[in-house]
Amino acid sequence: MQVDLNESWRIGAVEIPSRLVLAPMAGVSVQAFRRQGRRFGAGLVCSEMVSCAGLSYKNERTLGYLRIAADEHPLAVQIFGAEPGVMAEAARMVEDAGADIVDINFGCPVRKVTKTGAGAHCLEEPARACAIVEAVANAISLPLSVKMRRGLANGSRTCLEIGPQLVDAGAATLTLHPRSAKQMYTGEADHSLTAELVELVDVPVIASGDITSRARAQTVLATTGAAAVMVGRAAQGNPWALRQIMGEDAEPSREEVVAELVLFMRETIREVGEHRATGFLKKFYGWYLGRGRFPKPFKQELVQLQTLDEVEQRLLAAAPGAPGARFVLERLEDELPQGDEVLLDLPISIYGGG
Ligand SMILES: Cc1cc2nc3c(=O)[nH]c(=O)nc-3n(C[C@H](O)[C@H](O)[C@H](O)COP(=O)(O)O)c2cc1C
Repeated sequence: MQVDLNESWRIGAVEIPSRLVLAPMAGVSVQAFRRQGRRFGAGLVCSEMVSCAGLSYKNERTLGYLRIAADEHPLAVQIFGAEPGVMAEAARMVEDAGADIVDINFGCPVRKVTKTGAGAHCLEEPARACAIVEAVANAISLPLSVKMRRGLANGSRTCLEIGPQLVDAGAATLTLHPRSAKQMYTGEADHSLTAELVELVDVPVIASGDITSRARAQTVLATTGAAAVMVGRAAQGNPWALRQIMGEDAEPSREEVVAELVLFMRETIREVGEHRATGFLKKFYGWYLGRGRFPKPFKQELVQLQTLDEVEQRLLAAAPGAPGARFVLERLEDELPQGDEVLLDLPISIYGGG
């Protein structure tokens, strides 16, 4: 059965224009990544996980994660924490910042997070998880979604017990990444659990894990009854994977690859500043230029360069074909909304005491 990925669907009152969702990824899902994801066909994009404690302390860097661009809606901002009251306060800040959906992270397997009682740890404490969901749902007027793993231990089916409880507590959508926390990213996502979860709840379910091609997206949608598929690693440095999943033949030219990477660099510098962007961007060079697109030593060469300006010049010189990367880049920048239209600052209420 062919599933139409262009079909729109809803999370509460929010209309999602396609059945493709861009995954939240810490250290990856900056605004530039999310805006690019929307351009390439994702119907919903998500921020990386944001610490509710950091928001509550008004930590400057954490507040920066709440900066939302005009052209990335619909957007979910994901928060993590273990205290219902602090999570509710963080959710209110997310709403004030202009997000469309608040997402709660019950999936993070990293020890630094789980040892505080947050992330995947909440799956082991259903009463606390439900208290968090209830407190957040009561604090905001936006729809609330929850993202979770199958459970902590390998073979766990905890998601099937806790999922319906989270919906009763106020979750308008569940995203399931059906690996255990212990598995981290090894083995395979077992989407037979996604199908079981779909049967148990009357809210849309998003299937996350190992969606790398159109064929896989079609199979998972058709066999699970999920409302949408979420794509994470396959889209790192490769927005064309999103276009391919949406049904377009999308192998990019070298010039397009360079133009998208340079645009991504420029936007990231604007968002987080040159200093932070320099280290942050290094992993993206390999992601963009790999897949046989450029010879391996080229990436090594870029990583060694001192400034991002030098990286940009070297990249543009490496793709002079017709139309050259400079031309493609100019066209892309012309099509994008720019300046104040896009880079909204945070509403004053988020900084202020009110
Ligand atoms: C580098 C990286 C960072 C991630 N950060 C988050 C996160 O902040 N919040 C979250 O819910 N999931 C996070 N995930 C999990 C992804 O959202 C997704 O569920 C998982 O990677 C499986 O999907 P994939 O096979 O399409 O990558 C992260 C995954 C990766 C690879």
